[in-house]
Amino acid sequence: MPTVRIEPDGFSIQVASGDSLISAVERAGVIVDTPCGGRGGCTKCTVRIVAGDLAPSEACRQAFDAGKIAAGWRLACQVRVTADLTVEVPAAARVRGERIVAAGAAESRSLDPLVFGTVVEAGVPSLEDQRADLERLLAAGGAGLAGLAPELGFLRDLPRALRAEGGRTAVVARRAWSGGCGRLISVAPASRAPRVLGAAFDLGTTTAVGELWDLASGRRLGVASRTNPQREYGADVISRAEHAAGSPGGLRDLQRLAAGCLDEILAECLRSAGCRSADVHDLVVAGNTVMQHLLLGVTPEHIAMSPFAPAFAAARSVPAAEVLITAAPGARLSVLPAVSGYVGGDIVAGLLATGLLDGADDASGPVLFIDIGTNGEMVLVAGGQATACSTAAGPAFEGARISHGCRAMSGAVEEVRFDGTDLVCLTIDGAAPLGICGTGLIDAAAELVRTGLADETGRLLEPGELPAGTPAALAGRVRLGQDGPEVLLGAGREIPLTGRDLRELQLAKAAVRAGAETLLAEAGLAAGDLARVLLAGAFGSYIDPANALAIGLLPAVPVERVAFGGNTSAAGARLALLDRAQRERAAELARSVRYLELSGRPDFQERFAEAMFFPGAASG
Ligand code: FES
Repeated sequence: MPTVRIEPDGFSIQVASGDSLISAVERAGVIVDTPCGGRGGCTKCTVRIVAGDLAPSEACRQAFDAGKIAAGWRLACQVRVTADLTVEVPAAARVRGERIVAAGAAESRSLDPLVFGTVVEAGVPSLEDQRADLERLLAAGGAGLAGLAPELGFLRDLPRALRAEGGRTAVVARRAWSGGCGRLISVAPASRAPRVLGAAFDLGTTTAVGELWDLASGRRLGVASRTNPQREYGADVISRAEHAAGSPGGLRDLQRLAAGCLDEILAECLRSAGCRSADVHDLVVAGNTVMQHLLLGVTPEHIAMSPFAPAFAAARSVPAAEVLITAAPGARLSVLPAVSGYVGGDIVAGLLATGLLDGADDASGPVLFIDIGTNGEMVLVAGGQATACSTAAGPAFEGARISHGCRAMSGAVEEVRFDGTDLVCLTIDGAAPLGICGTGLIDAAAELVRTGLADETGRLLEPGELPAGTPAALAGRVRLGQDGPEVLLGAGREIPLTGRDLRELQLAKAAVRAGAETLLAEAGLAAGDLARVLLAGAFGSYIDPANALAIGLLPAVPVERVAFGGNTSAAGARLALLDRAQRERAAELARSVRYLELSGRPDFQERFAEAMFFPGAASG
């Protein structure tokens, strides 16, 4: 078996001859950025062979010139290991230090979890009272345990637990709810009553965040996050759905990756809180519809093709062990209900967390809730009615298909502003610039239009065409590249932004804007009628609202009407974990939202074409 050594980490791993280099690297624990899903189209997985032989594939020859091939540069997703080698994985190829939004929108409103612990004074049998142990326990438990059926493990443990302390018995139980029947889960002598813990997760396409909660006290014990390891199979849900459907074992692999990700998050929370997985009895997950399918190991392939029907939409509750999550015996994992194939449990969680349909917000006027990622999912709430749609924004906001694009990670140019003489480019963590992420791209486009370096169609001006009076420092950033004019970003001008990059941004922002305008038109509203535009999710949390308005990403409202919801998906999952009434509310919300399918609508296409333009200076 060939051995692959990873530099500069110094890890070594043995692989089967013929394994792809990227899977070898990732099994060694180094996660490579793969926005194209390993199809050879993005070159983000560029690595260098520093020792050993690895023949370049045709895709490598197309990506690199002869000098680079001779120097050992390869696309890790496009080559296979046949002999021992040492490979250098440069920083630019790695996913690392990504910024995670764990903060939620809503705090828990009440504590009434589905799973609870109680101590029952059941007494012990005697010749005068020969009732069966279970009947004795249920009778003593009164209304709290009425109608609950025992798990088999509960029955097996009951006789010993009941008699150990004269009938003083600790019980953990799950109440009945519309998604499942009530159960007696575990039993122990009262002095050894287990803690009753639960976990809430936001399973995003890019990142996953989890929180560990004490369900008895309502105290949060830990929070942790991970990048979603499914990214190996593409940045967007379509690539993953296609992989699940089209590759042998693809669905199983994606299920395991999702479950492993949540399991790691839970383990980290448990470690930091000094708790045991055997005390985790309940788990709630909010994710988009494809993520929820993949987590349960249900094929999402029909979501990816017309007519886009998911296999299930209502909330589901399954044994945690069946989806490979390490928790207490009898623990269950629930996914929140979805509206459609493209408006998932994460958006329903967002509605739960923001309370937009609870009536309190109605008085202030219509609200547009938007979660921007590789899809732009949005809900217009007006007059107590909610209408949702989803648009394929593509991966530009995640830095993919941008020549020097990257995710929001350490070293990404995240902010660009014109200070009167030059562009100031700030990177995440102040690190040396690696590339530009979505927020930096929006800022850059807004400033290029404001300063006249780009026109409203998105065309970058050549050095000789710049407006009179363009400051010299700013003009010095414009050069003629291989494919036309480029603007050099970064403190040291090391990140070229091309006309093609601007075009990718225009496609992404036009999709979101056209979706929003179509929702407004369906409701007979104009942008000015909106009381608020509420941005949710990791990307939305870092957008500069004035610049988002300036490039026409959002409907034209005064900037002070743009608000941030944080990670509303995690917040909604948390509410459902801590308050069983919120699960019922989530089901009602999912049923009440009307879904608007945009594909094939000529009015959407017209709005999309209009929204390609840059409108210019910010509103308000
Ligand atoms: Fe390898 Fe895109 S080229 S992941």
